[in-house]
Amino acid sequence: MRFAKRLDAVPPYLFAELERKIAEKRREGVEVISLGIGDPDLPTPEPVVEALAEAARDPSTHQYPSNQGSEEFRTAGADFYRERFGVELDPASELVPALGGKEAVGHVCLALLDPGDICLSPDPGYPPYTSGPLFSGAEVHYLPLEEANGFLPELDAVPQEVAARANLLFLNYPNNPTGAIVQPGYFEQAIEFARRHDLAVVHDNAYSEICFDGYRAPSFLETPGAKEVGIEIFSPSKGWNMTGWRSGIVAGNAEIVEHFRQLKTNLDSGMFEAVQHATVAALTEARDFPREMSEVYRRRRDLVAEALAAIGLPVEPPRATPYFWVRVPEGYTSESFAGLVLEQAGVVVSPGPAYGPSGEGFFRISLTVPDDQLQVAVRRIETSLQAGILKT
Ligand SMILES: Cc1ncc(COP(=O)(O)O)c(C=O)c1O
Repeated sequence: MRFAKRLDAVPPYLFAELERKIAEKRREGVEVISLGIGDPDLPTPEPVVEALAEAARDPSTHQYPSNQGSEEFRTAGADFYRERFGVELDPASELVPALGGKEAVGHVCLALLDPGDICLSPDPGYPPYTSGPLFSGAEVHYLPLEEANGFLPELDAVPQEVAARANLLFLNYPNNPTGAIVQPGYFEQAIEFARRHDLAVVHDNAYSEICFDGYRAPSFLETPGAKEVGIEIFSPSKGWNMTGWRSGIVAGNAEIVEHFRQLKTNLDSGMFEAVQHATVAALTEARDFPREMSEVYRRRRDLVAEALAAIGLPVEPPRATPYFWVRVPEGYTSESFAGLVLEQAGVVVSPGPAYGPSGEGFFRISLTVPDDQLQVAVRRIETSLQAGILKT
């Protein structure tokens, strides 16, 4: 049997070796604590669960849904965008459901990229910004995110010949994995860049609802001209603890929305209507729930910031996202540090290069574990470092 080459084109999964080591540690009886994955530990809010249960008992939800989404879903999405971001969307043409942000990232590539095209993807970045373009037969040109630039890609540094072949630019603020937020004027620059090079901007807005210290993340679509050049992918996964539900919204430029919808009529048959009802409940009845979650993550963030400072790993505490992006101590690579933290402290952190080559020298900590476990994890790392065990 022969398999398609496109799977070989995707960079090797950097967690594979780490996962092998985790399994080995667990077999040895070590209680491994994972700060590796950004999957909320707390349950989905009750009104959302109720809405699902009720809708699932209604047989009218049991048939194929449409890829357009129900009118109720599209209206709730448009109302949310108006009330939360001040963005006007036509529910009939500028918004459709997606089966989670990840699905949207992958399929929007199939809708926008041909073989020979270039996709501009942030590095470090969410891995589907690499696999999506590669599966479409396109090339990826990485835009390094550097601390000195606030982890915002320097668009003027994109070589002319690359920009000329690029048809898609991915942006993501608040950002995974760096926790960075967008700076005023940046989205304007991105729109100008997109116009100049006739390409689409896809802003992945997975984290706008997890913010701290009074910060409220904007939508890309708030920026004048955004709808002319791009779309935004919104997801309730992180704000409403709904990662398992596979729900999301693609909103903005009507032509891109329509091409995405058309593509998906050939690939999936839409979002289960009961999940659409549940998503409506999240965006209406449970609208303020992400503020509660943000408070939980703020508490955990402060705890981790204090612990990292105590062990001499200086960090700027993030103002959004449940992530810390931390430089590894001198003498380590990302992988050797992640390996040693697992070996000596029984704690999993994500090595930076899992998000792209510019992630080398960093590791990511996720705050999506209960406070008590987080406390144990940072204490274990602290003890290992102070005891000098974590030395090459
Ligand atoms: C930047 C980014 N986009 C999208 C997603 C996927 O979210 P969803 O659960 O909606 O597929 C994630 C999940 O970690 C993410 O970090």
